[in-house]
Formats: sequence, C-alpha cells, structure tokens
Amino acid sequence: MNEPIKHSIRERFTVLIFDNKQSGSAYLSTIICELINQNNQWDKHTCLGLATGSSPILFYAALVKEYKSQNVSFENVYSFNLDEYYPIQNNSPESYHHFMNEHLFDHVDMPSDNIYIPDGELPSDKVEEGCQKFENRIKALGGLDVQILGIGRNGHIGFNEPGSSIETTTRLVEIHETTRRDAGGAFGNLENVPHQALTMGVQTILSAKSIFLMAWGSGKAEIIKKAIEDNITPEVPASYLKNHNNVTYLLDQAAAAELNI
Ligand code: F6R
Repeated sequence: MNEPIKHSIRERFTVLIFDNKQSGSAYLSTIICELINQNNQWDKHTCLGLATGSSPILFYAALVKEYKSQNVSFENVYSFNLDEYYPIQNNSPESYHHFMNEHLFDHVDMPSDNIYIPDGELPSDKVEEGCQKFENRIKALGGLDVQILGIGRNGHIGFNEPGSSIETTTRLVEIHETTRRDAGGAFGNLENVPHQALTMGVQTILSAKSIFLMAWGSGKAEIIKKAIEDNITPEVPASYLKNHNNVTYLLDQAAAAELNI
C-alpha cells in the first residue's frame, strides 16, 4: 500500500491524504484492528463509535476482510452508532440499523448485545430516557476509544446540524434540508425522508479518546477546507473537532484539493 502524504498542521491533529478511498479505508481498518488486538491482549474491551453513509463503506468492507482472514475478532468489541432516523423501523431498508447489519454486523463476530444504535422505534415519551441510557452506557464502558466520522456537505457530524452547540449530548434533532435532500435518493424521494433523527451530541463525540474523520471526493473539498482551516463556529459543527487533541482526517486527493497545505 502507498503511504499517505502526512500533514501535521498543528500538533493537535493530523491530515492524511491518500491516492484513493480504497487505500485510506484499508489504512484505517489496519489501525482499528491493531487497537482491538492490543486491547484483546490485555483482556480489555474496545469501544468503537461508528458512522453510516457512503464514506465508511469501504472501511467496513476492509474490517470484514480482516475478520475473515482471522486477523481480528470483534468478540470483545462494543459499538455505538452515531445516529438513526426518527421515527423509523429498525428493519426498514433505509434505517441505519439495516445499514450496519448489511455492511458490518452480519459478517463479524461482535455479540449482538454489544451493539448500540439509537432506537428509531422508541415511542416519543421514551426518547429522552433512551438517549440518556445510551450516554450512560458509553460512560459505564469507560468511554469511546475511537469515534469514526464522515462529514456532511454542510459540515454536520452525526446529525449535529449547523447551529448545534458544543455542549450537546445524545438527543432528538431536526434534520437540515440539505441533509434531507442528500438522503432523498436512499428513501426514493424527499417526502419519504424523516424530518427528525436521534444523534450523539457534539460533546459525546468530543469525549472519544481519538477521532477519525473520512472524506472522499470533490463534493467534500469545500467543507473540509472550512472545517480544518477556518475558525471554530457552530455553523460548521465539524470545526468543533479542533477542540480535541487526537483527530485524524483521512482524505483522498479530491477532498483535500482546496486545503492550503
Ligand atoms: C452518518 C452520519 C453523517 C454522515 C455524513 C456524510 O452516520 O453521521 O454525519 O457521516 O452525512 O455522509 P456520506 O458519508 O454519505 O457522505
């Protein structure tokens, strides 16, 4: 595998630029498998924060390949997904539950009891309690070792849309119109896209020990530049990642094209 071009813009975060998303995804999968294997050696569990969307698909494929090659086991891994539409049936093809089963959970040995995804089936009077339980479970397990992220064209992370505060935790939110339009294809048309979602908050994400954000393709170039080079602003929630001391951005050449580095 070609080594990525590495830029440490400031000491607090790293930008890795790959020839393509395949090599970036394989690289991240190697890092995550090493972490899991290291923790397994010490009889420690690993807590992964996971994302859905197009950005992590090849990363999950690479993890499945490592598992099938017997290079890693997920028996002692816990996972917490960033978000889920609300309301939605867990078994509906557009749900993030379905996505995760299809791309990862159906193919590896992670015990189903270790898998946490915000529950789009909760009745509305149980949503707050459900979000609190989700947060409590992360804390009870010692926090997220890693959070995997993609980035929306409007700078969202999870469903923390522009305007989200840095203090937010897991909660019910309104989905931004840009985000709903981007999801229109998956739901057949815009009208079918839910208006709300459950999402980990910005504070939840920033509490992870390390963060990896993947962005591939020219469609992400402008927002990547804003998130990395401009000042921190609620209008670009990904810019809050500058408050964290261990963030790695994995980009292909097209997503990195507008960076001044
Ligand atoms: C999904 C999520 C979203 C996506 C973002 C980018 O769980 O948290 O924030 O990461 O919308 O989506 P893609 O990867 O489809 O461009």
